[in-house]
Amino acid sequence: MRTPVTEKINRLKIKRNAVILAHNYQSGEVQDLADFTGDSLELSRKAASTDADVIVFCGVKFMAETAAILSPGKTVLLPDRHAGCPLSDMITAKQLIDLKCEHPDAIVVCYVNSSAAVKAESDYCCTSANAVEIVKSIPADKEIIFVPDQHLGRFVVEKTGREMILWPGYCVTHAAITEDDVKQAKAAHPGAIVMAHPECGEPVKAICDQILSTGQMLKFARQSEAKSFIVATELGIIHSLKKQNPGKEFFAATERATCPNMKRITVEKVLWSLEDMQYKITVSDEIRTRAKQALDRMVAVLPAK
Ligand code: 13P
Repeated sequence: MRTPVTEKINRLKIKRNAVILAHNYQSGEVQDLADFTGDSLELSRKAASTDADVIVFCGVKFMAETAAILSPGKTVLLPDRHAGCPLSDMITAKQLIDLKCEHPDAIVVCYVNSSAAVKAESDYCCTSANAVEIVKSIPADKEIIFVPDQHLGRFVVEKTGREMILWPGYCVTHAAITEDDVKQAKAAHPGAIVMAHPECGEPVKAICDQILSTGQMLKFARQSEAKSFIVATELGIIHSLKKQNPGKEFFAATERATCPNMKRITVEKVLWSLEDMQYKITVSDEIRTRAKQALDRMVAVLPAK
């Protein structure tokens, strides 16, 4: 919907040669305003390939940092400087360096939900859309350290049969989705397909039908013959699911699954961000060069079809 605020945003976008990228967990209004909405991998690829001068990243800090690393010549703005990610804060570069010292020959795979400094200490970065493919691409005789999400890590272990050294990090929003929530939702909506994000805990994943990244959920729902779905991930995605599938029904596994950091971004903050060119996300050259190697490998490996 066009409002005075969105009109102003559109004018400023042209003036600044800016593109607005929004993660699937953003509020419906912010998603509708964006030039491109997607999962972490899709947004990283978009950030790496855009010819805009300014990227307004409607997401959380590690996503904006990833864009800054992949597109060093561009100005990357995060409309709320406090939009962080507790999962990415669960491991520091120092902790990873110490772990590497204990396993000097291991290859390090870090989930994109990590700081630039942690990425700089990693060999490969991955998202939930391509973690399995990334790990499969590593020679079988190599030991692997996987940080920081233990639940995505366990999913990859199960899919690849590779033992990995897992860091005990987790997403607090996905931890709010319990096995009981999913059981209750299934009882309330018999026959609905349960889609869960790999960041969910193992008991939730054990009783779901599909384990998918947010981008994969959107694709699966579009292609599926099913008419109703239970969604076990952050609630923001339900906006796009409903919009893209008018004849289908989508139910949240629990209304608790809302990420307060993602929801810090509002339409007004996007406007202020473009007006004041804030908050600029930058990464030092030393960290950026090393982190980019891990990220280049991530964007190069294709996700599963
Ligand atoms: P996706 O890559 O599936 O969009 O997930 C991003 C994320 O941060 C999940 O918490």
